[in-house]
Amino acid sequence: MAHSRSHHHLLLLPAPMATACLLLATLLALCAAPAPTHGARVLMPGGAGAVTKAQQGGTGSGSNATADEYLAPHNQARAAVGVAPLRWNAGLASAAAGTVAQQRRQGGCAFADVGASPYGANQGWASYRARPAEVVALWVAEGRYYTHANNTCAAGRQCGTYTQVVWRNTAEVGCAQASCATGATLTLCLYNPHGNVQGQSPY
Ligand SMILES: *[C@@H]1O[C@H](CO)[C@@H](O)[C@H](O)[C@H]1NC(C)=O
Ligand SMILES: *[C@@H]1O[C@H](CO)[C@@H](O)[C@H](O)[C@H]1NC(C)=O
Repeated sequence: MAHSRSHHHLLLLPAPMATACLLLATLLALCAAPAPTHGARVLMPGGAGAVTKAQQGGTGSGSNATADEYLAPHNQARAAVGVAPLRWNAGLASAAAGTVAQQRRQGGCAFADVGASPYGANQGWASYRARPAEVVALWVAEGRYYTHANNTCAAGRQCGTYTQVVWRNTAEVGCAQASCATGATLTLCLYNPHGNVQGQSPY
């Protein structure tokens, strides 16, 4: 299922830190992504932050089976903490598709630069053909390190992908996945409005 064999390969950035850690994130992604530990199945979360501009239009309820694969685990995690479900936004999905396609073309399917847009972004890189629900489950699993009572993440852990998933003020999401020549997959979800506002509790 969705776990990483080697925790030192886990990479995850909460949005407020995205810019500061961008270089580090890129280096880690480039080092870790193209060459996982000799055939081991690796699935790692990455970059809660912001990415590219979503195209206008295409909003609304045009969800389908692919969308539901992303939406269902998001909304299950949100329901678990009493937060309203996300809606699918085809414009965000299209923007996500453009970004992961670009990462595929540039080689290695490395994590995208998530520092520059108004949208929230969760990424996941897998050394294999990971299902969307599996990637979302990995983000949600970071919630085990999050304590809502004091809005903190356990020392040495990152909770940013989880807190974006359950962020109350986020209303819509669009996601896409690229399959790379190596067999790896890069998954990206974009969130509007973005979550992980510094100093605020997600819900
Ligand atoms: C389903 O949604 C995905 C993600 O937005 C999109 O790439 C795909 O084209 C859609 N398929 C159909 C049949 O609408
Ligand atoms: C927040 O609460 C958790 C669980 O009680 C605790 O382990 C942690 O030390 C607390 N963190 C802060 C910064 O108070």
